[in-house]
Amino acid sequence: MNSATVLALAVGYLLGSIPFGLLLTRLAGKGDIRDIGSGNIGATNVLRTGAKGLAAATLILDAFKGAVAVMIAQRFWPDAVNFAAAGALVGHLYPVWLRFKGGKGVATMLGILVPLFWQGALVYAVVWLGMLLIIRISSASGMAAALSAPITAAVLGKMALVPMLLGFALLIIWKHQENIRRLLKGEEPKVGKKKVEGP
Ligand code: G3P
Repeated sequence: MNSATVLALAVGYLLGSIPFGLLLTRLAGKGDIRDIGSGNIGATNVLRTGAKGLAAATLILDAFKGAVAVMIAQRFWPDAVNFAAAGALVGHLYPVWLRFKGGKGVATMLGILVPLFWQGALVYAVVWLGMLLIIRISSASGMAAALSAPITAAVLGKMALVPMLLGFALLIIWKHQENIRRLLKGEEPKVGKKKVEGP
């Protein structure tokens, strides 16, 4: 590993590990988001507090940190962009500050894709929002969006991106194990409903 790789990985991880959902809900006096709903620190769970603005801010900032990590690497360490991207996603999923119990990565992966592979970001956003509008289940929509990224890369011939994006999608699905269990039991709440089994 050269210094550019280490720096890209470290900057990506540090940015990705900022738990915006937790920080914003705390600052707004909503308590600890990890004690609410699914216990996740992401925008969907922030929405369960009833604070739509905070949920939107969480979504935007969680995406933004992924995009910033990639853009910094593109500017300073162009050969290590993938390490910044991976660092950002892993930082969000496993932040050292929260004893490695982080979010599920759907917004952060979208942010990573914007500067890295804009066509993939576009398809991702369409799949995510389209499914959300139709089935109104955030977890299933997010997992489908994550899987769309390596598929889009393969379809467009961007084969160099496929293994990494497939890895990202599989990590995101791995982090949705509880959601998958609820989905299989037909118990996954729809967006907008506050009721969900506690963490
Ligand atoms: O992006 C997170 C989402 O896919 C699931 O969130 O709170 O329903 O587990 P949650």
